[in-house]
Amino acid sequence: MSARVGRTRRVLAATAVAVAGTLAVGLAVAAPSSAAAEPTLGQLAVAKGRYFGSATDNPTLDNAPYTAVLGSEFNQITVGNTQKWQYIEPNRGRFDYSQADKIVEFAQAHNQIVRGHTLVWHNQLPGWVNDVPAGELLGVMRDHIANVAGYYKGKVVHWDVVNEAFEENGTRRQSVFQQKIGDGYIAEAFKAARAADPNAKLYYNDYNVEGIGPKSDAMYDLVKSFKQQGIPIDGVGLQAHLILGQVPSTLQQNIQRFADLGVDVAITELDIRMRTPRDAAKDAQQATDYRTVTNACLAVTRCVGITVWDFSDGYSWIPSVFPGEGAALIYDENFNKKPSYWAVYEALGGTKTTTTTTTTGNNGTGCTATYRVTGQWNGGFQGEVTVRNNSSTAISGWTVKWTLATGQSLNQVWNGTLTANGQDVSVRNANYNGSVAAGGSTSFGFVGSWAGANPVPAAVTCTTA
Ligand code: XIL
Repeated sequence: MSARVGRTRRVLAATAVAVAGTLAVGLAVAAPSSAAAEPTLGQLAVAKGRYFGSATDNPTLDNAPYTAVLGSEFNQITVGNTQKWQYIEPNRGRFDYSQADKIVEFAQAHNQIVRGHTLVWHNQLPGWVNDVPAGELLGVMRDHIANVAGYYKGKVVHWDVVNEAFEENGTRRQSVFQQKIGDGYIAEAFKAARAADPNAKLYYNDYNVEGIGPKSDAMYDLVKSFKQQGIPIDGVGLQAHLILGQVPSTLQQNIQRFADLGVDVAITELDIRMRTPRDAAKDAQQATDYRTVTNACLAVTRCVGITVWDFSDGYSWIPSVFPGEGAALIYDENFNKKPSYWAVYEALGGTKTTTTTTTTGNNGTGCTATYRVTGQWNGGFQGEVTVRNNSSTAISGWTVKWTLATGQSLNQVWNGTLTANGQDVSVRNANYNGSVAAGGSTSFGFVGSWAGANPVPAAVTCTTA
């Protein structure tokens, strides 16, 4: 077995050397490293001592294209709905874990850690809880926590113990728990959760607490007083349901001040919404925003991970809650990676080597161009573009265009004809590979030079002819 692996490696190495030999004509180059599979966001996060996760919900678990991404790209899962009180204890004393279990089992099958969400919240609360007499509600809350956190003991790494207990001005939200149990309900919830699962990290989670302001100040005072009184709390969750171009400037400073109190911080429900439809400028701003959030977390050791509130624009809660807004996530509806995906990827230390753009051509036909750096060395690189006919009609010709970055040039193209106009390059099919059957693909290759950096183009267009 190992001999066979060794032989495969040697063959690959020999191929790389042969390629380098071809390239070496006219270029002083070292051997290019052979292209490796791109790491996932989860793998990149692990290398930074973090996790990168996604929330998910039960209806999507039988959607194969969806679960292919969910199960491979992330190393953490948050149960998006079905651990909420409404689902778990729909009737007093009757607990139903069947839905949440499906998500936890999915995570376990894919080596993903689970954030539990959420034990005590004013929303998605079954009606009967509002009718519990004041004198009984503390017992009901403790019983709920003991059951749920006890059931998932050892299976959940973090619990969002209490969710959204503050108003925007930092006063307590007048939830049924606040009104019937009083200020002490949060501390009681944390004590009950610690007793039920001593190893789970216990989080207070809220929105509009990402920057410094009255609401995050209230959360800060809560954590500080818990620490002083010895009430168990391990972390704060910044939900981070953000608006395009409005990442709070104090985000990193805010994360740091909680870390300085001695708790962990997690970005728990990240999405960055825009007015739809999306366009290139909004996508670029969103990428900047995702990068800013990721960098802020990476800058503080106690910021332990980031979770997006689902990962594909087709499965986001935003359009139903904020009419006219959406496109808030890092994959589009068809599970294509958006610029924001690549911004996170690069912030986590990944090097982007692939980009794909689809355009529609003449007569309703269309093609997709996927640009890929297959090898890179000091000052030079080799690349490949795959042209896929993603329509149901054969095409008879194609042209792929992109703009070279400053310092980049193309020295040689094969299986296509190059036309360059400054940094704008256009590659037309050769006379033998213009015809592509419906669903089929072909490719061309090139060798180029670079100086400074060798980014992949933000956009590659493919048009049919
Ligand atoms: C949202 C879910 O995504 C929706 O499917 C559901 O209808 C409502 O709740 N803050 C939270 C999450 O803590 O639980 C919310 O999730 C989004 C806002």
